[in-house]
Amino acid sequence: MVRGDDDRERVRAAVNLVEQFAAITKVKRSGRSFTALCPFHQEKTPSLSIDPARGLFYCFGCHKGGDVFTLVQETQGLSFPDALQALARQAGIVLTQRPGDGKRAADRERLVAVMRRAVDFYTRRLLSGADAGPARAYLRSRGYDRALIEKFGLGFSPTEEPSLGSELRSAGVSNSVMERAGLAVRRGWDRGPSDDGFRDRFRGRIMFPIHDLRGDPVGFGARLMGGDGPKYLNSPETPLYRKSRLLYGLHLARREISRSDRAVVVEGYTDVIAMHRAGMESAVATCGTALGEEHLEALGRLGQRIVLAFDADRAGSDAVLRGERVSRRSGRRLDLRVAELPDGKDPADLLQEDRLEEVRQAVDDSRPALQYRMERRLAGVDLTDPESRARAVNELGPLLAAVADQATRAEYERTLSRMTGAGLSEIQAVVRRGARGAGIEGRAGRRRPDDSGGPASRVIDRHAHRGSAVERELLKAVLANHPALRELEVDSTLFGQDLYRQAFQQVEADWRVTPIGRPTPIAWRGENSPDESERQGAPDEVDRELLAISADGLEPGDPRPLVIRCRRAALRREMDAIGARMRSLAADDPQRTRLLAQVVELERRRQELTGDLR
Ligand code: UTP
Ligand code: MN
Repeated sequence: MVRGDDDRERVRAAVNLVEQFAAITKVKRSGRSFTALCPFHQEKTPSLSIDPARGLFYCFGCHKGGDVFTLVQETQGLSFPDALQALARQAGIVLTQRPGDGKRAADRERLVAVMRRAVDFYTRRLLSGADAGPARAYLRSRGYDRALIEKFGLGFSPTEEPSLGSELRSAGVSNSVMERAGLAVRRGWDRGPSDDGFRDRFRGRIMFPIHDLRGDPVGFGARLMGGDGPKYLNSPETPLYRKSRLLYGLHLARREISRSDRAVVVEGYTDVIAMHRAGMESAVATCGTALGEEHLEALGRLGQRIVLAFDADRAGSDAVLRGERVSRRSGRRLDLRVAELPDGKDPADLLQEDRLEEVRQAVDDSRPALQYRMERRLAGVDLTDPESRARAVNELGPLLAAVADQATRAEYERTLSRMTGAGLSEIQAVVRRGARGAGIEGRAGRRRPDDSGGPASRVIDRHAHRGSAVERELLKAVLANHPALRELEVDSTLFGQDLYRQAFQQVEADWRVTPIGRPTPIAWRGENSPDESERQGAPDEVDRELLAISADGLEPGDPRPLVIRCRRAALRREMDAIGARMRSLAADDPQRTRLLAQVVELERRRQELTGDLR
């Protein structure tokens, strides 16, 4: 057994999938299963079905399906180990991990505990510190009330004693832990008498705690309230705080992002808070850095559409390139868009002016980021001047070349041709050159996962299995572990459709050892999983079909006639194959007689089975 299998099963047994759903969406009982409003796409009537006996779900609307780990991974944007950890914590289970992991986790826990104390300390100081008067006044002038301060954990880092350092020290936290958490810095020449040579990193600032996806505080953004220094100061990189990955507000926004399939990226802390106040709860911001690939990846795991709602010029070509790179790498197309906010103002200021409806409108009216770039680049260009037209086209070429999806890229080539009046073939030539310049592999764009020599047979033509309702029904009986199947000969040759044969093969071993009275478990492999036992990837088509069959809630009928009909079809396939071989042989080939005898025997068995059917 692979490490973690055990943990996974213990956690799975301890959590209740229906409750997990109930915490994020509306769930209704229907017979022995449940239906829910799907959290993965927007809908008014529930099309997601939960199978509590197996701990699986499947949405007939958007075809997402999986188990409780999939649910947590997808709705919270977590990796499998993180989802496991989160659920384990909820269920009060201690995971048996490799020693190294345990040590790292313990270290992390220690730092998070210190960060929590710091958040607490700063909030208390903001609410009641004598030196926090100006900070309170500033926040009040922005309309922040107590509830908002608590929701975002805002605080104030004092300039006067007791400092954070002295409070933490008296609680037994060492200077080196404070330093590792990014809260304390070593003093130079101004070494104090009682502080062992350390002082608080943040002083005289409004504190915006930054949380990871789990909602643990991992860093701070801090706005100066007076005195000297940069307007905003952020935590340094620590074992907890990685600014290239973290997004401010993501722990509050993730649910809305995955529900609406859309994230809105605004400029800064105050903008995120403004958006949430105005009920736009899918807003996040980077923490004092540009929006990088890891940010896009984190958002892309939660929702497909990412709307950039910050200063339009900064939402530049770089973001487009990064977005396409992430699409290419993750195999999931990100829909990167730009919203143009009125008068180029940020949401925090617009909220102050009571202009939130305009922000909402701008977000709804967002345009694809690439189209936006093209329009910006071409604005003011004299298209009758061949030189400037060529310059613009040459500049846009590499951007178009970066588009991961071929059909989308072709669409943009046509658009650019229309916008500039340059011929399509000219545009295409520039784009090809752009692709070479940018070192983008091939011209075909994104490779399908199966191009790489992976399990190519797992990609199945959707239409190939039309009209194979009987095989599907039989598979359903297998999944239901129908007792009558035990007296019948069931094997994979019964399935003529690739989809159903592979699905059967996937569950066969489990089915054979599942006691009567219990449903066959469904272990799916997932398209990205190199290791079968790790089961972390998104369900592929075979997996999805299994999930769908198990989720449709209807009882399977008597499997006897199904097996007979499938067996007859299987015999017919065998006969057809032999027939084909015979046709390839010369008329006087001695093998023919043997093959003919086989056909006769198969036909006899088929007739027998026909008798059984009546
Ligand atoms: P602002 O300069 O508008 O800051 O930047 P503010 O806090 O809203 O202050 P005032 O009251 O309008 O002057 C907007 C956002 O940009 C980020 C912050 O997140 C801030 O919320 N920012 C700004 C930084 O990260 N660093 C900076 O140096 C400046
Ligand atoms: Mn501002």
